[in-house]
Amino acid sequence: MYDFAPTAAADKATLHADLLSAARAVTDGEPDAIANMANVAALLWQYLPDLNWAGFYRLVGDELVLGPFQGKPACIRIAIGKGVCGTAAATRTTQLVADVHAFPGHIACDAASASEIVVPVVHDGRLIGVLDLDSPLTARFDAADAAGLEALCAALAPALAG
Ligand code: SME
Repeated sequence: MYDFAPTAAADKATLHADLLSAARAVTDGEPDAIANMANVAALLWQYLPDLNWAGFYRLVGDELVLGPFQGKPACIRIAIGKGVCGTAAATRTTQLVADVHAFPGHIACDAASASEIVVPVVHDGRLIGVLDLDSPLTARFDAADAAGLEALCAALAPALAG
């Protein structure tokens, strides 16, 4: 059993540092990418407030396929270039969307989602998939979240690639 807990009332930088430390601990020495994605999704859900979805889409062939997540059941396959996730995958850049209803082509999986951030996971120059977080609050994610989640994805890329 793992018993990690975020520091109470921590600022974003501290929260992201705590989260990364817990994620390193649960993925250390484990070669299975799906198991690692599952534990990281669970930690994201536990550590970050105001989320209604947190998880991964994996690049399988030439499309994104639903991976381990927390939240309501979601769309299973997303074409590269489609929606927020497909745009992050196509451009290999973080998509910070303050209002999903204003994002052309946004794919609505949960009607509660108001804002979203999607970070590409790249290992050794290869796109592994994307990390996707949704929030019921408009503009829930900012540059500090983007920096923290990009650092998390970069540090964990080997564990998420398997
Ligand atoms: N909103 C995403 C789809 C995935 S769900 O949010 C879990 C998109 O537009 O790609």
